[in-house]
Amino acid sequence: MRTTLVNRLVYKRPLLSNGVFASLKRSTLQSNTFKRMSSSVTGFYIPPVSYFGEGALEQSIEHLKKKEFSKVLIVTDPGIAKIGLSAKVADLLKKAGVEVSIYDKTQPNPNIQNVVDGLKILKENDAKAVISLGGGSAHDNAKAIALLATNGGQIGDYEGVDRSKNQCLPLFAINTTAGTASEMTRFTIISNEEKKIKMAIIDNNVTPSVAINDPTLMYGLPPALTAATGMDALTHCFEAYVSTAANPITDACALKGIDLIRESLCEVYKNGQDKKARTDMCYAEYLAGMAFNNASLGYVHALAHQLGGFYHLPHGVCNAVLLPHVQKFNTADKVAAKRLGEIALHLGQSAGTAESAVQALHELNKQLNIPRNLKELGVKQEDFDILADNAMNDACHLTNPVQFTKDEVKQILQEAYDC
Ligand SMILES: NC(=O)c1ccc[n+]([C@@H]2O[C@H](COP(=O)([O-])OP(=O)(O)OC[C@H]3O[C@@H](n4cnc5c(N)ncnc54)[C@H](O)[C@@H]3O)[C@@H](O)[C@H]2O)c1
Ligand SMILES: [Fe+2]
Repeated sequence: MRTTLVNRLVYKRPLLSNGVFASLKRSTLQSNTFKRMSSSVTGFYIPPVSYFGEGALEQSIEHLKKKEFSKVLIVTDPGIAKIGLSAKVADLLKKAGVEVSIYDKTQPNPNIQNVVDGLKILKENDAKAVISLGGGSAHDNAKAIALLATNGGQIGDYEGVDRSKNQCLPLFAINTTAGTASEMTRFTIISNEEKKIKMAIIDNNVTPSVAINDPTLMYGLPPALTAATGMDALTHCFEAYVSTAANPITDACALKGIDLIRESLCEVYKNGQDKKARTDMCYAEYLAGMAFNNASLGYVHALAHQLGGFYHLPHGVCNAVLLPHVQKFNTADKVAAKRLGEIALHLGQSAGTAESAVQALHELNKQLNIPRNLKELGVKQEDFDILADNAMNDACHLTNPVQFTKDEVKQILQEAYDC
């Protein structure tokens, strides 16, 4: 089955220039535990321009003004519309002489219908660029819309790695959570509600042209969302650091991301207006994005995507609950165990061991009032079989340090359920 998945993701594009995923072809076929990819060519993908700090929003409007786009589509969600943020951005754009249309119905874990509806508005208004405004859901929907605008077809056609021909429409991604890092990645995750799965579209053609992280847009992010999205960023750091495709650049990004999250996440959870902590979380989630955009992820995300697709659960919460359990099982790989020990020290533990990293995660989840286990999230044990099957078909598991059997995946779910 794994060979079939690799065929689907890699062999389909024989001219793939994407180092990480091209390398998987060799390593996945070699052994149950992946060989690390020290000798293969690696690419490094990030947006051409990124703005950080208070005033980054206004700076990005100046940037957009210079590009002379006459008409743009803002893609956002009902929560962002309700707090008046989409109206504020639309005003700034109008003042800059840009005609604006808005799609504000993106749902959390955006689905195929969101993409279809947003694309319709884009076409009706002849928009020449897309502004995504929100967290990962708004960005992912905007990326999918901008990709279909230049490539045609349905979003499902692009599931997998580098399946499109053309760069998406120019995309300005204004981030309001910290976060998914979707404002800077080449990933877009769209739910197929019929199949109850989340499709991973991994394609450099969806990388935003400009990524904007202005902490002033995040001061009002409620504590529970701050915690969940912050734990998503921490998961990105963990999974990229133990990934079989990690390299010295992604390692540096992941460890610095962990340092900043350790210093800032609990602070900003307690006080959302803490300017320094909010700003540091912007940098942390972006560093985490640089790490996983290039080293990819692992079984935490492969499983979290299934929980999101099946039960519509928040992505960050699923990751936070699963992270300690998957990492415990990852200690079966010696390199991963050693790397988890290094992470433990960055998390402030006195012992540099994998066990203390796992312990630190349980403690952090507790401090952030993350639900304790899958039972509390309403996950059903009778669904473990299908969840495990689907996780083993999710591209994100390919760079996990250990390739688990289906029974092991179910065992992880059971431990995360009973914990
Ligand atoms: N493309 C990628 O690289 C990538 C990576 C990880 C996750 N994801 C995807 O991202 C999605 C999750 O994104 P998310 O965790 O950022 O949440 P989200 O975008 O789903 O937003 C969650 C809620 O937070 C609200 N919100 C956002 N910013 C706010 C603010 N500043 N103030 C008040 N409310 C605010 C929104 O209105 C929404 O109701 C999932 O679908 C996940 O699969 C994508
Ligand atoms: Fe994530």
